[in-house]
Amino acid sequence: MNLILMGPPGAGKGTQATRLVSERGMVQLSTGDMLRQAARSGSKLGRRAAAIMETGAFVPDEVVIGLIAERLSGDRGGGFVFDGFPRTLAQADALEKLLTDAGAELAAVIELVVDPDELVERITGRISCGKCGAVYHLKTNPPARPDACDICGADDFRRRDDDSEEALRTRLMEYFRNTAPLTGYYYRAGLLRRVNCAGGPDEVAAQLHHELEAVVSA
Ligand code: AP5
Ligand code: MG
Repeated sequence: MNLILMGPPGAGKGTQATRLVSERGMVQLSTGDMLRQAARSGSKLGRRAAAIMETGAFVPDEVVIGLIAERLSGDRGGGFVFDGFPRTLAQADALEKLLTDAGAELAAVIELVVDPDELVERITGRISCGKCGAVYHLKTNPPARPDACDICGADDFRRRDDDSEEALRTRLMEYFRNTAPLTGYYYRAGLLRRVNCAGGPDEVAAQLHHELEAVVSA
């Protein structure tokens, strides 16, 4: 089962995708994570992407489509969960073609719906482990010990470079202008489902599970 998790910055795409990896053996394809990894590597592409991401703008379509194309030929596990891709109509068209060429298809597109004020709360409280990338929230999902990552034990909590107030404003604007209209595209394709993300991560995961069961039995 291949899924898209769609939603604005801070909606919980990464949080839920990580759970789908551990609970259903799915393969998470997060273009944001891939770009941050490229930035850490110091490659030319990574440096170029980092400069764009820091402002909150989108990285060019051909770059992210190339990253996804590379991964589709790899291990499929229990299916792909696309996190933060596609974000534009050109990316959605490219994904459809790439999946068709790979003999695969989308089972559903899940829109994570969150109140905008709550998005700001989630983003401003987010910290992540600089060593393994595990994501926490200072209030709603803190690490068990304040000085050690639950997953790898490192004491290296960081905030993302693009979580500044100005970059967040641009990210939200980009989302509502370019990505939100894709819900119409997927609604027309009969693939769109919505999950209300007002509750905590466990509550959202339970609703997501409910939607996925409906997809499987449809
Ligand atoms: P990307 O990394 O995809 O960032 P984003 O879309 O802005 O989303 P976030 O990762 O900030 O939020 P999330 O929805 O994953 O939430 P999370 O689970 O962390 O992209 C970054 C940049 O890369 C883009 O701006 C662009 O420049 C570039 N880029 C990436 N893909 C691209 C593409 N396809 N095309 C062009 N450019 C691209 O949760 C947030 C916080 O809330 C955490 O602290 C978490 O613990 C907490 N939380 C999660 N769920 C809940 C809950 N239910 N209740 C309470 N707290 C919660
Ligand atoms: Mg994310």
